[in-house]
Amino acid sequence: MPAVVIYESLTGNTARAAELIAAGLTEQGVPAIACPTTAIDYQALADADLVVVGSWTDGLFFVGQRPAKAGRLAQLPFITGKTCAVFCTYAIDTGKTLDKLSDIMRDRGGDVIGGMAIKRNRLEAGSREFVDRVLGVLSTRS
Ligand SMILES: Cc1cc2nc3c(=O)[nH]c(=O)nc-3n(C[C@H](O)[C@H](O)[C@H](O)COP(=O)(O)O)c2cc1C
Repeated sequence: MPAVVIYESLTGNTARAAELIAAGLTEQGVPAIACPTTAIDYQALADADLVVVGSWTDGLFFVGQRPAKAGRLAQLPFITGKTCAVFCTYAIDTGKTLDKLSDIMRDRGGDVIGGMAIKRNRLEAGSREFVDRVLGVLSTRS
Protein backbone atom coordinates (compact mmCIF):
# COMPACT_ATOMS: atom_id res chain seq x y z
CA MET A 1 0.00 0.00 0.00
CA PRO A 2 1.83 3.11 -1.17
CA ALA A 3 1.37 6.35 0.75
CA VAL A 4 1.71 10.04 0.15
CA VAL A 5 2.28 12.70 2.81
CA ILE A 6 0.91 16.12 1.85
CA TYR A 7 1.87 19.05 4.03
CA GLU A 8 1.44 22.74 4.59
CA SER A 9 4.46 24.43 6.19
CA LEU A 10 5.57 28.01 6.79
CA THR A 11 8.82 27.75 8.73
CA GLY A 12 9.78 24.13 8.00
CA ASN A 13 8.61 22.16 11.04
CA THR A 14 5.69 20.48 9.33
CA ALA A 15 7.79 19.82 6.23
CA ARG A 16 10.40 18.14 8.43
CA ALA A 17 7.76 16.05 10.20
CA ALA A 18 6.27 15.09 6.82
CA GLU A 19 9.68 13.95 5.53
CA LEU A 20 10.31 11.96 8.72
CA ILE A 21 6.88 10.35 8.47
CA ALA A 22 7.41 9.44 4.81
CA ALA A 23 10.82 7.96 5.65
CA GLY A 24 9.41 6.08 8.65
CA LEU A 25 6.56 4.60 6.63
CA THR A 26 8.96 3.59 3.86
CA GLU A 27 11.28 1.95 6.39
CA GLN A 28 8.35 -0.07 7.72
CA GLY A 29 7.38 -1.35 4.28
CA VAL A 30 4.92 1.34 3.21
CA PRO A 31 6.61 3.25 0.37
CA ALA A 32 5.86 6.93 0.86
CA ILE A 33 6.85 10.31 -0.48
CA ALA A 34 6.20 13.75 0.99
CA CYS A 35 5.11 16.78 -1.00
CA PRO A 36 3.81 20.26 -0.15
CA THR A 37 0.24 21.33 -0.93
CA THR A 38 1.73 23.73 -3.48
CA ALA A 39 3.47 20.96 -5.47
CA ILE A 40 1.38 17.84 -5.07
CA ASP A 41 2.68 14.72 -6.81
CA TYR A 42 -0.64 13.82 -8.44
CA GLN A 43 0.59 10.46 -9.69
CA ALA A 44 1.73 9.49 -6.20
CA LEU A 45 -1.60 10.68 -4.82
CA ALA A 46 -3.54 8.66 -7.41
CA ASP A 47 -1.47 5.55 -6.59
CA ALA A 48 -1.67 5.99 -2.81
CA ASP A 49 -3.91 3.87 -0.61
CA LEU A 50 -2.90 5.93 2.43
CA VAL A 51 -2.93 9.73 2.38
CA VAL A 52 -1.35 11.56 5.30
CA VAL A 53 -2.11 15.27 5.57
CA GLY A 54 -0.28 17.63 7.91
CA SER A 55 -0.48 21.32 8.67
CA TRP A 56 0.65 23.66 11.41
CA THR A 57 -1.49 25.16 14.12
CA ASP A 58 -2.51 28.72 13.33
CA GLY A 59 -4.34 30.80 15.89
CA LEU A 60 -3.98 33.01 18.92
CA PHE A 61 -2.10 30.27 20.80
CA PHE A 62 -4.89 29.63 23.33
CA VAL A 63 -7.97 30.39 21.25
CA GLY A 64 -9.07 30.23 17.64
CA GLN A 65 -6.66 27.51 16.61
CA ARG A 66 -7.15 25.95 13.19
CA PRO A 67 -5.11 24.18 10.57
CA ALA A 68 -3.04 26.78 8.71
CA LYS A 69 -4.19 27.35 5.14
CA ALA A 70 -7.43 25.52 5.84
CA GLY A 71 -8.86 27.04 2.67
CA ARG A 72 -6.10 25.49 0.58
CA LEU A 73 -6.49 22.13 2.33
CA ALA A 74 -10.22 22.22 1.60
CA GLN A 75 -9.31 22.44 -2.10
CA LEU A 76 -7.15 19.31 -2.11
CA PRO A 77 -8.17 16.72 -4.72
CA PHE A 78 -10.86 14.30 -3.66
CA ILE A 79 -9.43 11.18 -2.02
CA THR A 80 -12.63 9.18 -1.99
CA GLY A 81 -12.11 5.66 -0.72
CA LYS A 82 -8.56 6.26 0.45
CA THR A 83 -7.43 5.80 4.03
CA CYS A 84 -6.32 9.10 5.57
CA ALA A 85 -4.45 10.12 8.71
CA VAL A 86 -3.80 13.70 9.78
CA PHE A 87 -1.25 15.50 11.92
CA CYS A 88 -0.48 19.02 12.99
CA THR A 89 2.59 20.61 14.46
CA TYR A 90 2.23 23.19 17.20
CA ALA A 91 4.01 25.26 19.83
CA ILE A 92 1.70 25.38 22.84
CA ASP A 93 -1.90 24.29 22.31
CA THR A 94 -3.68 22.87 19.27
CA GLY A 95 -7.27 23.53 20.36
CA LYS A 96 -9.53 21.83 17.84
CA THR A 97 -7.00 21.88 14.99
CA LEU A 98 -6.95 18.10 14.54
CA ASP A 99 -10.74 17.82 14.55
CA LYS A 100 -10.96 20.58 11.97
CA LEU A 101 -8.30 18.97 9.79
CA SER A 102 -10.07 15.61 10.06
CA ASP A 103 -13.36 17.25 9.02
CA ILE A 104 -11.69 18.84 5.99
CA MET A 105 -10.28 15.52 4.84
CA ARG A 106 -13.58 13.73 5.43
CA ASP A 107 -15.18 16.36 3.21
CA ARG A 108 -12.61 15.43 0.55
CA GLY A 109 -13.79 11.83 0.78
CA GLY A 110 -11.03 10.44 3.00
CA ASP A 111 -11.61 7.61 5.43
CA VAL A 112 -9.92 9.33 8.39
CA ILE A 113 -8.49 6.80 10.83
CA GLY A 114 -7.05 9.30 13.29
CA GLY A 115 -4.78 12.20 13.95
CA MET A 116 -1.92 13.30 16.13
CA ALA A 117 -0.43 16.60 17.25
CA ILE A 118 3.35 16.77 17.09
CA LYS A 119 5.03 19.39 19.25
CA ARG A 120 7.53 21.42 17.27
CA ASN A 121 10.38 20.70 19.67
CA ARG A 122 9.98 16.93 19.37
CA LEU A 123 9.49 16.39 15.67
CA GLU A 124 11.55 13.19 15.46
CA ALA A 125 9.95 11.35 18.36
CA GLY A 126 6.50 12.61 17.43
CA SER A 127 6.84 11.55 13.81
CA ARG A 128 8.02 8.08 14.86
CA GLU A 129 5.07 7.75 17.20
CA PHE A 130 2.69 8.90 14.47
CA VAL A 131 4.02 6.24 12.07
CA ASP A 132 3.69 3.55 14.75
CA ARG A 133 0.13 4.59 15.55
CA VAL A 134 -0.94 4.66 11.90
CA LEU A 135 0.59 1.27 11.18
CA GLY A 136 -1.00 -0.06 14.37
CA VAL A 137 -4.46 1.00 13.22
CA LEU A 138 -3.87 -0.32 9.71
CA SER A 139 -2.77 -3.70 11.05
CA THR A 140 -6.10 -4.10 12.83
CA ARG A 141 -8.03 -3.36 9.63
CA SER A 142 -6.34 -5.72 7.18
C1 LIG B 1 0.95 33.13 12.82
C2 LIG B 1 1.21 31.94 13.71
C3 LIG B 1 0.22 31.51 14.58
C4 LIG B 1 0.44 30.42 15.41
N1 LIG B 1 -0.54 30.02 16.26
C5 LIG B 1 -0.34 28.99 17.09
C6 LIG B 1 -1.35 28.58 18.02
O1 LIG B 1 -2.44 29.15 18.09
N2 LIG B 1 -1.09 27.53 18.84
C7 LIG B 1 0.12 26.86 18.81
O2 LIG B 1 0.31 25.93 19.58
N3 LIG B 1 1.08 27.20 17.91
C8 LIG B 1 0.89 28.25 17.07
N4 LIG B 1 1.87 28.62 16.19
C9 LIG B 1 3.12 27.84 16.13
C10 LIG B 1 3.16 26.93 14.91
O3 LIG B 1 1.97 26.13 14.81
C11 LIG B 1 4.36 25.97 15.02
O4 LIG B 1 5.54 26.71 15.14
C12 LIG B 1 4.44 25.07 13.81
O5 LIG B 1 5.32 24.00 14.08
C13 LIG B 1 4.91 25.80 12.57
O6 LIG B 1 4.98 24.88 11.51
P1 LIG B 1 5.83 25.18 10.22
O7 LIG B 1 7.28 25.36 10.64
O8 LIG B 1 5.66 23.99 9.35
O9 LIG B 1 5.30 26.41 9.58
C14 LIG B 1 1.68 29.71 15.36
C15 LIG B 1 2.67 30.15 14.48
C16 LIG B 1 2.44 31.24 13.66
C17 LIG B 1 3.52 31.68 12.71
